[in-house]
Amino acid sequence: MASERLSVVVTRRLPEEIEARMAELFDVTLNESDVPFSRAQLAEAMQRADVLVPTLNDRIDQALLAQAGERLRLIANYGAGVDHIDVATARQRGILVSNTPGVLSDDTADMAMALIIAVTRRLPEGQAIMQSGEWGGWSPMALLGGRISGRKLGILGMGRVGQALARRAKCFGMEIHYHNRRRLHPDIEAETGATYWESLDQMVSRVDVLSINCPHTPSTFHLMNARRLKLMKPDAVIINTSRGEVIDENALTRMLRAGELAGAGLDVFEHGTEANPRLRAMPNVVLLPHMGSATREARREMGEKVLLNIQTFADGHRPPDLVVPSLA
Ligand code: DGY
Repeated sequence: MASERLSVVVTRRLPEEIEARMAELFDVTLNESDVPFSRAQLAEAMQRADVLVPTLNDRIDQALLAQAGERLRLIANYGAGVDHIDVATARQRGILVSNTPGVLSDDTADMAMALIIAVTRRLPEGQAIMQSGEWGGWSPMALLGGRISGRKLGILGMGRVGQALARRAKCFGMEIHYHNRRRLHPDIEAETGATYWESLDQMVSRVDVLSINCPHTPSTFHLMNARRLKLMKPDAVIINTSRGEVIDENALTRMLRAGELAGAGLDVFEHGTEANPRLRAMPNVVLLPHMGSATREARREMGEKVLLNIQTFADGHRPPDLVVPSLA
């Protein structure tokens, strides 16, 4: 690339040290208000920038890419998931896409584990009683949950986060099962003690806890549809820290209301910020505002990855975290 500084547009506020470094390295436009970009603002940014740094809130589809300026050569996503970007169309137009894998796996797996515990041990109900000021004292039969140790955990999607969850759950004494596009190396299976299921149907019908850890792609959309949810045991719980679109949220809500599933822990929702309102009223459902990777450490390391991807590209090389369209 020319020695001229790259023009970079960042669509949301990032950690202070990352923004400062961006300003040192590039001709950067930051979003100081942190208000998400409108479609028109995104289009305008894509018209004038060499590099766009979006987040999962910015839908970069075919229509928007068609309006991109000649200069736009890299979309350096601040985040691991790229289901909001039409990666194949970007590539056809000569625009590279990079992401930030790896640095948020442990934190997201922690959150999945936290949700497993919160749902099976009824933490929100306990918290609600304490907050009401009406706790009557210890009682042998109050707020009984289920023991986690010995339960069968099914992990749908055994990538970085799935494997990190398996390691944690193993320490809690859970029995680990997984379904994945590809079977893992025997060494990883041995380390995590995980049993592979080629058939997702067979796995979901046997586990006590199902954790969704696969990305959202056209082939995983509604992978947990009504038919498959019905295969689950009525005393099983479902956890999702990946993307809401993998579960048919309406079907899940109906089953929870009918008592056909014991509970759910959801950090992500099918329609973005709009969780099905019926879910909010259920004591056996824990809802979080997509905070799986929300640690200061992850957010800083995600920013460092973005910087490295842009700088490597600026130096004329392939960004280390280039997203391959067929795998997006
Ligand atoms: C990502 O990076 O895609 C995560 O979902 C953010 O938490």
